Amino acid sequence: MRRVTILGSTGSVGEQALQVVRAHPERLKVHGLAAGRNGVRLAEQLREFSPRVAALHHQDNAADAENAATEAGTEMITGQDGVCRLAADSTADVVISAISGFAGLRPTLAACRAGGILGLANKESVVCAGALLMDEVKASGVTLVPVDSEHNALYQCLLGESRAEVAQLILTASGGPFWDLEPGELHSVTPREALDHPRWDMGDKISIDSATLMNKGLELIEAHWLFGFPLDKIEIVVHPQSAVHSMVRFSDGSIKAHAGPTDMRYPVQYALSFGERWEDPGYAGFSLAGAEWRFEAPDEERFPCLSLARQAADQGGLYPTVLVSADEVAVEAFLCGHIGFMDIPHLVQNALEHLPPPYSRAKEPGLDDIAGVDEWARDHVQRVIMEM
Ligand SMILES: NC(=O)c1ccc[n+]([C@@H]2O[C@H](COP(=O)([O-])OP(=O)(O)OC[C@H]3O[C@@H](n4cnc5c(N)ncnc54)[C@H](OP(=O)(O)O)[C@@H]3O)[C@@H](O)[C@H]2O)c1
Repeated sequence: MRRVTILGSTGSVGEQALQVVRAHPERLKVHGLAAGRNGVRLAEQLREFSPRVAALHHQDNAADAENAATEAGTEMITGQDGVCRLAADSTADVVISAISGFAGLRPTLAACRAGGILGLANKESVVCAGALLMDEVKASGVTLVPVDSEHNALYQCLLGESRAEVAQLILTASGGPFWDLEPGELHSVTPREALDHPRWDMGDKISIDSATLMNKGLELIEAHWLFGFPLDKIEIVVHPQSAVHSMVRFSDGSIKAHAGPTDMRYPVQYALSFGERWEDPGYAGFSLAGAEWRFEAPDEERFPCLSLARQAADQGGLYPTVLVSADEVAVEAFLCGHIGFMDIPHLVQNALEHLPPPYSRAKEPGLDDIAGVDEWARDHVQRVIMEM
């Protein structure tokens, strides 16, 4: 029986991780659950799974979860420190890190200290603190298994291969719901249209990032840190069918591709069962006969977030944190109807261009610098939105 902790249990990946637990009751037991604001849903999860410990970031919403915790015999803790304490609990065998956004950074770093297996979905932590995170992974000996579907695919393609013989990592991108729109049409798309992803059912933030292609920019940086290849060895191709999750090209010209259904329960199960291959309970169908797969070059003019991510990655230091934090505020403002879709890249670019010294000169930032720049970028973008 593997004891599982899920950080972000009330979100899209978190709920799907719980579905995997339900599908394998003889092999998986929920050990810990952590959420942000949704105390009501967390309470339902505590009643169903009776974990040993649960954490809610926003203590003002904790009343329901505290009552449910008492009934379930669960230890309940609150606040960011509570989430990090739960993440670092070394009695879990596997931790799934699925908090959305920058908020996932400290809990993910804490989860490295739990040892065991870390199933990593929270890409923002890798983008903002790739060097710190990979150092922590090395020092702690935790086994990091990427859950982001593209990185999980790359991980599987690279197994048993020599790094020296890898010519290129090829990340696939669905292109999102607006891939076929003309540039002029992108200005008037609505949050509802942007949330309607053609292939994947995901949380709001990553759905908007998929529509702007910022998600692929973040994934480029994520792949760079997770697999240790330079940025110019990582290519992006748009593949609207999302059947091929990513590929590796080798020095002899062979390409290894990982394909499968567009369903996050597969990479989550891969992490939860790591080291073994458990049967597919039938989460989703996948048929090859009659399938037509298309691959196209990305269009960075129509989707400038991709080049902004490359630029931030090349600049390094604290620029990737500016990218993440500015994007988070801009996406939130778009979802609230305060700005248009194409304002998102403009706001991110504005923040990248205005990062002041000494932040702009930092080469190997620590956690405090990263937290400081997160705050700076949020304030900066909010100020620019107010002036718009
Ligand atoms: N969804 C996908 O298919 C997918 C695929 C690949 C990678 N990812 C990555 O996985 C991560 C999660 O994505 P998602 O789509 O599952 O997001 P989501 O549906 O928005 O869920 C986010 C989760 O994080 C929790 N959370 C937010 N702030 C928190 C805090 N300060 N402390 C503790 N928990 C907090 C939320 O709790 P409350 O709801 O209680 O506030 C919720 O459980 C993101 O980094 C995303 O890029 C997602």
